[in-house]
Amino acid sequence: MSFSALELTGSKPEQYAQLLQQARALLHGERDRIANAANLSALVYNALPDLNWVGFYFFDGSELVVGPFQGLPACVRIPLDKGVCGTAARTRQTQRIEDVHAFPGHIACDSRSESEVVVPVRDASGAIAGVLDVDSEKPDAFSQADVDGLTKIGAMIYG
Ligand code: SME
Repeated sequence: MSFSALELTGSKPEQYAQLLQQARALLHGERDRIANAANLSALVYNALPDLNWVGFYFFDGSELVVGPFQGLPACVRIPLDKGVCGTAARTRQTQRIEDVHAFPGHIACDSRSESEVVVPVRDASGAIAGVLDVDSEKPDAFSQADVDGLTKIGAMIYG
């Protein structure tokens, strides 16, 4: 199998529609969450501009543990009361952070991160399974269109 990244074109929602189409083709009915999280991280990291980290943290029943990702090595475990990721998992609310330096308790795994989106990921039963964390080296890099698109991508890990 060979995979070539398409150039995304049009508005942000149109670009995410193309990205989701690619993601569906890439996952192709696969249900293994590690395999899917790995491929989705690589797809997003290579398709969208200005990203320095894209990846998944999985909830192990007490804290978040790093899963497949693209970018610099990251913190392995994040308690639910820490960081943007912990906040997203604890509250089940997507976090769109325009300036990570203004977020109390932000964990700077990569000092280049300036803004980020973290979306909660649920399993088939609706229980919290982890988060998808997307970081940018540009301040205020993410819009509501990014949140909408990344939420759909995060939900794909179970096939
Ligand atoms: N941004 C996260 C930490 C994880 S790393 O950036 C990969 C946070 O504050 O939760």
